[in-house]
Amino acid sequence: MALNKTNLLFLLLSFFLTLNLSSAQLRRNFYAGTCPDVEKIVRNAVQLKIQQTFTTIPATLRLYFHDCFVNGCDASVMIASTNSNKAEKDHSDNLSLAGDGFDTVIKAKEALDAVATCRNKVSCADILTIATRDVVNLAGGPRYEVELGRLDGLSSTAASVEGKLPQPTDDVNKLTSLFAKNGLSLKDMVALSGAHTLGFAHCTKVFNRIYTFNKTSKVDPTINKAYVAELQASCPRNIDPRVAINMDPTTPRQFDNVYYKNLQQGKGLFTSDQDLFTDSRSKPTVDLWASNGQLFNKAFGNSMIRLGRVGVKTGRNGNIRRDCGAFN
Ligand SMILES: *[C@@H]1O[C@H](CO)[C@@H](O)[C@H](O)[C@H]1NC(C)=O
Ligand SMILES: *[C@@H]1O[C@H](CO)[C@@H](O)[C@H](O)[C@H]1NC(C)=O
Repeated sequence: MALNKTNLLFLLLSFFLTLNLSSAQLRRNFYAGTCPDVEKIVRNAVQLKIQQTFTTIPATLRLYFHDCFVNGCDASVMIASTNSNKAEKDHSDNLSLAGDGFDTVIKAKEALDAVATCRNKVSCADILTIATRDVVNLAGGPRYEVELGRLDGLSSTAASVEGKLPQPTDDVNKLTSLFAKNGLSLKDMVALSGAHTLGFAHCTKVFNRIYTFNKTSKVDPTINKAYVAELQASCPRNIDPRVAINMDPTTPRQFDNVYYKNLQQGKGLFTSDQDLFTDSRSKPTVDLWASNGQLFNKAFGNSMIRLGRVGVKTGRNGNIRRDCGAFN
């Protein structure tokens, strides 16, 4: 039978209803009845962890992106590999995931589990969502409201990571299509790239831009000359591949809009950063946020909320893990 207009309309309607339902499950006070202090407890744990090490901040933020971009925000990135399963976190793209991000979620869960009513009531996916908002805020960024009610995912495979995460060499076309697959716009992409205001990257990831760009030019001509010299000094060719450098060379420990100001000066670390300024579709947004940190903060919070809606698991598609690193 041919698909007539009524059928098509019905299909479209049910598609949008499903979409709505999955995000409608998320709400601000999801734990009001079970663990009303969830946000306070997580924030305290995050604060303690930051006092121990600053890396907590970029590591948690990075962990959240990796989680949400691979099979949705369902803490699948937390699962440890077993003899029979190589998990997400053991894909080679994990090199940038410092252990402190995982530890932040583990510590926050311990704090929650110490409260009788909260014990095993809050999903690891929601803990990571709250902790990420808190690290951003505690580093000087916005305090946006988080939506809660995600379940933890039931699968985690290294194979599922392939092709899902943005790479340092990606241009705006590639980035836009990766973000679009997660229902995120060009503006979301530019805002979330602003997370590179914090954190580190391995020297080897920038070698292509400072040593081996192409046949005619060893250095990517879009990089600021002084910055090239700085990068070559911090990242000599024979450097230990574990050595990392700041992604925001100006204010690396502060969540701010300096990332966009850096791009205006040719100081984006990766192609995936600098191309936001080179490409005429994203440049106006870079310029706007470089000149107005408040607008950037607002946009970043909104884009983080949208990121948090990606691939949310509900009903039979998830559960609440007793141990964030293992399936129940
Ligand atoms: C990343 O994966 C490697 C194996 O591919 C593993 O040895 C390492 O512990 C993983 N890193 C993290 C932070 O899980
Ligand atoms: C090398 O890159 C520069 C700048 O993007 C470009 O103008 C030049 O044509 C490239 N050379 C080759 C051989 O691709």
